[in-house]
Amino acid sequence: MLAFIGGTGLTRMDNLRIIDSHTPETRFGAASAPVVEGALNGQRVLFLARHGDPHLLLPHQVNYRANLAALKAAGATAIVATNAVGGITAQAPTGALVLPDQIIDYTYGREMTLFDNLSEPLVHVDFSWPFDVTLRNALKARLGAADLHWNDGGCYGATQGPRLETAAEIDRLERDGCDIVGMTGMPEAVLARELELPYAMLSLVVNPAAGKSSHEITMAEIDAVIHDGMANVRQVLADFAAH
Ligand code: HPA
Repeated sequence: MLAFIGGTGLTRMDNLRIIDSHTPETRFGAASAPVVEGALNGQRVLFLARHGDPHLLLPHQVNYRANLAALKAAGATAIVATNAVGGITAQAPTGALVLPDQIIDYTYGREMTLFDNLSEPLVHVDFSWPFDVTLRNALKARLGAADLHWNDGGCYGATQGPRLETAAEIDRLERDGCDIVGMTGMPEAVLARELELPYAMLSLVVNPAAGKSSHEITMAEIDAVIHDGMANVRQVLADFAAH
């Protein structure tokens, strides 16, 4: 069953007809919220609000391991995650959707592996290509059919937060090759890989990253972009579920 992880701005899928709700106990504790099972455009899907419902958990407080384990336990076989990001390069103007194809992890102090049980064999998962090609291609087809500004590919820099970055940090991320910056892509993406769940990300650029515009980044500015942008994301996901 296809599962969606809703990030900032997508705490609820208002186009989802709810059928059931799962609260599996995982060995990592509780997920951010119940895993909602519903019908989206006639297809059974799962939905999980990454930051809880209501949106309360900061990026570093999210129990990513419990979230991924709960989705797997609820029957997820593939995951499309959404997130709000800052735009660094010209590929990522405010309001655009980006389908990243790479990640650089700058987070620290997070529980970032499921292999912490010494009695189980350790696996060093291949993570050369962090996002699933089949899911990305299917998303590309839906984005191509919609009249939206989107970009195929890009490198997602995962920062620790919850503060936004300094301009120098964003310059460094840009030199490293990052196009967008967000706080939740890791360890989520690698945990999906460890669970052998195909995973792709759809990112909405909600602000120019630090130093990329002449003004301060405000939550009001971000909220304004999220309102319309996440409506587009919901539409793309509904379309995606139906194909
Ligand atoms: N930086 C990091 N995370 C973000 C940003 C940003 O500028 N905007 C939205 N999430």
